[in-house]
Amino acid sequence: MAAPPLMLDAETRARLWRQLVKAIETYATKVEAGRVTPPLDPARVRAMLARFDFSAPVEALEALDFLVEGLWEFQTHTPHPRYYGLFNPAPTTMGIAGDALVAAFNPQLAAWSHSPLAIEIEQHLVRALGARFGYDPAHCDGTFASGGMEANHTAVLTALVQAFPEFSRLGVHALAAQPVLYVSAEAHHSLLKAARLCGLGTDAVHVIPVDESLRMDPEALASRIARDRGQGFAPFLVAATAGTTSAGAIDPLPAIAEVAAREKLWLHVDAAWGGAAALVPELRPLLDGIEQADSITFDAHKWLSVPMGAGIYFTRHRDILDRAFRIAETYMPREAAELDVLNPFMHSIQWSRRAIGLKVFLSLAVAGWEGYAAAIRHMVAMGGLLREQLEASGWQVVNKTPLPLCCFVDQRHAEGRSAAYLHAVAMNVVGSGKAWISTSRLAGSVPVLRACITNYRTTADDIAALIGALEEARGQLR
Ligand SMILES: Cc1ncc(COP(=O)(O)O)c(C=O)c1O
Repeated sequence: MAAPPLMLDAETRARLWRQLVKAIETYATKVEAGRVTPPLDPARVRAMLARFDFSAPVEALEALDFLVEGLWEFQTHTPHPRYYGLFNPAPTTMGIAGDALVAAFNPQLAAWSHSPLAIEIEQHLVRALGARFGYDPAHCDGTFASGGMEANHTAVLTALVQAFPEFSRLGVHALAAQPVLYVSAEAHHSLLKAARLCGLGTDAVHVIPVDESLRMDPEALASRIARDRGQGFAPFLVAATAGTTSAGAIDPLPAIAEVAAREKLWLHVDAAWGGAAALVPELRPLLDGIEQADSITFDAHKWLSVPMGAGIYFTRHRDILDRAFRIAETYMPREAAELDVLNPFMHSIQWSRRAIGLKVFLSLAVAGWEGYAAAIRHMVAMGGLLREQLEASGWQVVNKTPLPLCCFVDQRHAEGRSAAYLHAVAMNVVGSGKAWISTSRLAGSVPVLRACITNYRTTADDIAALIGALEEARGQLR
């Protein structure tokens, strides 16, 4: 009997796996020799795809080669050591292995009885990483998520359920007053989306000004809460950020925690990127106060360098996920009903989902806390070097953060602070293919160039190459 087309025959499979492993190894070791950025040519990409009308099957190896070559050409290479971007890492080798195994074994993380090991691994990681943030492993809880967006969405939902128990059944419109939450002007916009997804609407997100270091102003927070209460709003959540997306600022967590405690509001800390400081003893004090948070977002697919997506939501309220997500149903597996175990579909937004934690588990098991601390330390050192070299080349770094993220403007150009000039510099660098950087606006208005060390393999040579690309851009824009 011919092998089913979805399985392929043994010989083809053997060749396919060899080719696949070779492609992965070649990419991991050669990515730095190529351009960082792709041509932005939708017509060419679509023309390449036009041959696939799926009426005539193509050979397995040919299809694989098509994808490998296509990804080489048409991708901003986030694993490239000169990608100075938006927290996207070079994936760990063990993370790649973990994700490949997950694809093959396809553990179903809805009911415990279907995936005892994968589910217990994720819970083990929640306790181990939660302890790094200062949570008591015996009492903390959490769930893996697709990324920071889903973890922040979970935070808004759980805070709503805590403050308004009737919300779960009756929804927002049954509440006596409009619930509002607080973020800084530098918070990630996933919190706006989360407010929308929870039915609150984006106007429910009240934005608190930041100080000159781009950190939420706790006094402004306290007075906005008082004003809102006076106007009949129902404050329920403060979402602080530890490591803002644009500038790496860390909100003053102890002072914000004090306000939240006094006002009896849920405190969430979005530490999607900056949370990795918890793994480095000398950086851990930067996160002081995070242990007081009711919930925390942390993305392993950012600074723990595992392949996307791997968000984690932590909480010190053991029952809250259950209260937010438990649903009565009759068709899910019941073999483990008598056991003291957790069914993720009753504990998180997703229902059926892939095993997210296994790539984190393998990476952490093999690197250990020490290995991770060394990698993060290296990236922080590269951030320091970048800062020094920018300053030495006439760029002014305008953000203050101990994390490896520089926001800068040009001191040697008359237009060096204008949005148009800075955009042109970024486009020039990106277009050169030598590096990827971006622009942002601090506190919603001040235009800057932004470069972040996101790759554990970025070296001093890579920093020098970025400085060179910036210099070329400046020269061409004179
Ligand atoms: C601080 C912060 N929170 C949340 C997110 C959203 O995370 P994700 O893109 O994994 O959904 C990001 C993304 O960069 C972020 O920087």
